Amino acid sequence: MEPRPPAWPLLCLLLLLCSPCCPGVGAQSYTDFKLLQPQGPVVVTTRETLTLNCTTSESGPVGPVKWLKGWGNGNETIYDQKGSFPPRVMRVVNGSSTDFTIRIRDVRIEDAGTYHCVKFRKGTFGDVLFQHGEGTEVLVHARPSEPAMSGPRRRAVPGQSVPFTCSTGGFFPRDIQLKWLKNGTPVRAEPPLIGPETPNSSYHASSTVQVTLRENDLRSELTCEVQHSTLAAPLTRTYALGRALRVPPSVSVAAAPPGAVEVNKTVNFTCRVQGFYPGAVTVTWLENGTEMNAGSAPQPTETSRGLFELRSTVTVQAGEEKNGSRFTCRVLHEDQEPISSTGTLRVAATAQWDPSDGSTGDSKNLIYVAVGVVCTVLALLVIAILYLIRTKQSKGKSSPSARLHEPEKSSGTTTTQESDPNNLTYADLNFAKEKKSIRRIIELSQQSEYACIQSNSSSSSSQQPTSSDNLTYADLDMVHLSKAPRRPPPRPEESSSEYASVQIQRQ
Ligand SMILES: *[C@@H]1O[C@H](CO)[C@@H](O)[C@H](O)[C@H]1NC(C)=O
Ligand SMILES: *[C@@H]1O[C@H](CO)[C@@H](O)[C@H](O)[C@H]1NC(C)=O
Ligand SMILES: *[C@@H]1O[C@H](CO)[C@@H](O)[C@H](O)[C@H]1NC(C)=O
Ligand SMILES: *[C@@H]1O[C@H](CO)[C@@H](O)[C@H](O)[C@H]1NC(C)=O
Repeated sequence: MEPRPPAWPLLCLLLLLCSPCCPGVGAQSYTDFKLLQPQGPVVVTTRETLTLNCTTSESGPVGPVKWLKGWGNGNETIYDQKGSFPPRVMRVVNGSSTDFTIRIRDVRIEDAGTYHCVKFRKGTFGDVLFQHGEGTEVLVHARPSEPAMSGPRRRAVPGQSVPFTCSTGGFFPRDIQLKWLKNGTPVRAEPPLIGPETPNSSYHASSTVQVTLRENDLRSELTCEVQHSTLAAPLTRTYALGRALRVPPSVSVAAAPPGAVEVNKTVNFTCRVQGFYPGAVTVTWLENGTEMNAGSAPQPTETSRGLFELRSTVTVQAGEEKNGSRFTCRVLHEDQEPISSTGTLRVAATAQWDPSDGSTGDSKNLIYVAVGVVCTVLALLVIAILYLIRTKQSKGKSSPSARLHEPEKSSGTTTTQESDPNNLTYADLNFAKEKKSIRRIIELSQQSEYACIQSNSSSSSSQQPTSSDNLTYADLDMVHLSKAPRRPPPRPEESSSEYASVQIQRQ
């Protein structure tokens, strides 16, 4: 080209004049074209929707607007105004030539990155980058998954220390807290293990705690608490410690009645299975090591502490041949070694006497006999003593009294009567049983129930048969012979006299 200096301004003027009517040529500059990507860094949580704002001015060169993720090599077209794009991406204002805001649904961890809104200009060899936004950094956060908890593979007995593990995953960023609580009280644990250490991927974490189980932990709860920046409230998972606990039963066998039993009586052997958890046991009875049919198994009952117990009973007839038989209660709990307890049947040796009477009855009879004998002996002794005392008393009452029991005595009118010159003899009677009955004494006197003992003057020699006919004997216990002359029947005496007078008439 041959430059002609005067031609340049003319060309410029021509171009300026022509530009409104020839846009294809005037598209070279578009200095007033503006593209705005206003957002700074954006944080979005997985499964949520990300919005990326981009607006342009109306006028611009021919060419599409695109959203690119990343810059330089390895950039990725997320949205293309003229091309295809993933189904998760959509325009907010469809068909707009100024608002190129897009939305990305169901955000994933791998959506994290820097997004650029780019305006391309149609070139001879494809689209040429014309203008782009400053880029929006997108941080994808991920919520941790619901924590999972695992206990020991086998149940542990009280006192054992067992591990519990809590794990969660899929969270971003890396920072996370896993806390342990037993019945609401924090439990110390090692810091959680977090991985993997690869960029732009979510993390997982796990924490293990050792818990020493106790018998009263049956209703305890172990809680794992997960705290993360994406969570408004911590995630928790609870483990019932009863699931990890096994309380073995105590087993004891008792016989009822206890001790040796008589032949052919029945004996109940009761097996008490106590304080076990969980509440499933298998009870078998063995007689001298051989399994016996004990009928249906009773159901365990739950105690207030959450442990279980049951009783199983077998009834045995105490045949003589079963003396010394061993009855074993064998309890199987949770696939452990069986726990056993044994009772022995004792048959009492056969007695010689009637077995229905029993030895106890005989000894009772013996006791009764002995008591009877002792009582009789005592009674006899008392009588003898009383008798002795009486005889002594009667002797002590001296001369006037005489015994008229025996006919010989009275017939002989006794020595006292012999010596008695008056021959008038009174016999005083002692009514031991009727101390207070004065009237009776009067009656006695009125009815003249005097014992009349006739004695003549000659009777002193005591040999007349006639006199013996007239003689009346009084069968009296104690008789006082009075020397006083004949008197009227004695009046009741002032001090409740207990004497009856026997008048012996003289002929
Ligand atoms: C992004 O675009 C949407 C839709 O046009 C709009 O509602 C929102 O306010 C914009 N946000 C910003 C930060 O410009
Ligand atoms: C995007 O990548 C392509 C090749 O894959 C490259 O030609 C282009 O220049 C890149 N664009 C930007 C804006 O880096
Ligand atoms: C016990 O019972 C058996 C048969 O039932 C009988 O033969 C035996 O005499 C009984 N023994 C006694 C002491 O009752
Ligand atoms: C049962 O055995 C005990 C001792 O083992 C013995 O004293 C008892 O006499 C026995 N009873 C019978 C009925 O044989």
